[in-house]
Amino acid sequence: MTPADPLAAVTHPDPYPYYRALAARQPFFRHEALGLWVAAGAAEVAAVLAHPDCRVRPPAQPVPPTLAGTAAGELFGRLIRMNDGAAHAPLKGILMRLMANIDPAVAMTRAAALADAIGGSDVDAAGVKRWIFTLPVVAVADLLGMPVAASGNAAEVASQVAAYAASQSPLASAAEVQAGADAAHWLAQWLLDADPSSTGLLPALQSAAQQADVDPAAVAANAIGLMVQACEATAGLAGNSLVRLGREPALLARQDAAALHALVARVARDDPPVQNTRRFLAADALLCGVPVSAGDAVLVLLAAASHDDSHAPSERPWTFGAGRHACPGDALAQALAAATVAALLARGAQPARLVQSLRYRPSLNARIPQFS
Ligand code: HEM
Repeated sequence: MTPADPLAAVTHPDPYPYYRALAARQPFFRHEALGLWVAAGAAEVAAVLAHPDCRVRPPAQPVPPTLAGTAAGELFGRLIRMNDGAAHAPLKGILMRLMANIDPAVAMTRAAALADAIGGSDVDAAGVKRWIFTLPVVAVADLLGMPVAASGNAAEVASQVAAYAASQSPLASAAEVQAGADAAHWLAQWLLDADPSSTGLLPALQSAAQQADVDPAAVAANAIGLMVQACEATAGLAGNSLVRLGREPALLARQDAAALHALVARVARDDPPVQNTRRFLAADALLCGVPVSAGDAVLVLLAAASHDDSHAPSERPWTFGAGRHACPGDALAQALAAATVAALLARGAQPARLVQSLRYRPSLNARIPQFS
């Protein structure tokens, strides 16, 4: 059955024929029932992400109303991911420079060591869920220089990050929003444990930010932001890679790092974890040749762009975005997803069994398998 609309496509069992048809026949259109413009063609997706009047938040609503006035909202409002404009440019520049220095191969090796330290050999459906939501986040915490493996609170950190990430969804319940606010508070406190003499990313970020006169609260928020970015999307990339292995068991014949990298890179294109993102018009504009109005919202179908047959494959998978807000963690995310799949296979996870009970976690933008 065809997905009912582009939002239902995110968690549909096979949305890709639908996305391909949209990219070919309706590359940019108004979806009246959703009240959204929809960009589906690769050229149109690129044009929206590059347009100066297309912003990551509605100009009048920098923080989602459900989070406003809470610790979660305060954190959200400081994220470079959620802001356009000059005020965030210095910190963004510093963060991008430091992230560009991360070596994905080193991160993958480190993640394997962390997997051993975190322990746990439980690789049934519940165990897999725990692994995909824990290892990438803990690896990013470790990269920041947080003493996460040694202090024995890896599971706690991962669950606080997951709670915060879940609270940002428009589908979050009142209880989830409250849990997100508590988690934001917890994470801010925990970050104070950082060892300023560690060689991690956080002390480097803090000292560069201090020299540039950046508010320390913004640095802390964006350090937490890195773990949040690593959470659901990387869980989805690792999970969708397991789904691929479950469906194509011949791929299990090779489980070395190179083979797992190739698998994850293919899944990032074919069955991507982030299926769409949104932009909001800050002014009346002509977008993809169509007049649009200030306040209009655009649903940007990254997954459709990825399946646009009329377009040569992009250099980087569309799931990592493009333009001013393109993901700086793309290589790291793929390394961490590969490390997570490797850790699960090494502990005996059975992809073919997992896919027998495949569903997707309810979401309007992330495709994250839920095995049961
Ligand atoms: C599979 C995993 C990941 C996917 C699919 C993903 C995808 C994305 C996408 C689509 C955006 C842009 C959103 C938009 O323009 O609307 C983004 C931004 C961002 N991502 Fe990722 N991401 C992943 C993992 C990570 C990781 C591991 C990190 C860092 C540890 C990270 C850090 C960031 C940051 C800082 C931004 C904001 C960039 C900016 O606004 O300038 N991401 N990511």
